[in-house]
Amino acid sequence: MIGIEQDLEIAISAADLKARIQELAAQIDRDYRDQNPVLLGTLKGGFLLIADLVRMLNFDLEIDFISARSYLDSTTSSGRVDLFKKLSIDIRNRRLLIVEDVVDTGLTLRRLVEHLEATGPASVDVVALIVKEGAQLSGVSIRYAGFEMDERFLVGYGMDLAEKYRNLPYVAWLKDVK
Ligand code: PRP
Repeated sequence: MIGIEQDLEIAISAADLKARIQELAAQIDRDYRDQNPVLLGTLKGGFLLIADLVRMLNFDLEIDFISARSYLDSTTSSGRVDLFKKLSIDIRNRRLLIVEDVVDTGLTLRRLVEHLEATGPASVDVVALIVKEGAQLSGVSIRYAGFEMDERFLVGYGMDLAEKYRNLPYVAWLKDVK
């Protein structure tokens, strides 16, 4: 079957994703069991990660989503992060875990943490499946990081180029984009 894979080179296989997410889930279980945290998935890119992660966590937690967008239809950040969705859970005095697919420039995460901290949660931690080498975190710490990758543009497992490729079960490089 000829599908969308022909333009791609696999960067992280589905099996490696699953194994690493299981390791992160074990750490989160140790740190958050009995804390009833709010896991906050970042749309759209984080939708598969949060779906897989929460099925590996066997304790009480709540789930909400926030929508952040800065890449528009390009492979480079616009430099501006738009936040779209209001939370439906009151996060004041709650322990928050942001669940992010990729931290590339770091701009989205910094903006998200700043926005959420202003609403008075008990704590804010970050799960990021992929952290790029050049990420500028300036004071934001990523407690649970899956993979460190170089700066090449990635698609798949939630990540897109102009809305394409999000449905891939693995992470890939585009062959003609450096
Ligand atoms: C992507 C990704 C992260 C962000 C990371 O979102 O999901 O949220 O970019 O990039 P940064 O560290 O350079 O800010 P995008 O803006 O593409 O929106 P999407 O998740 O809806 O695809």
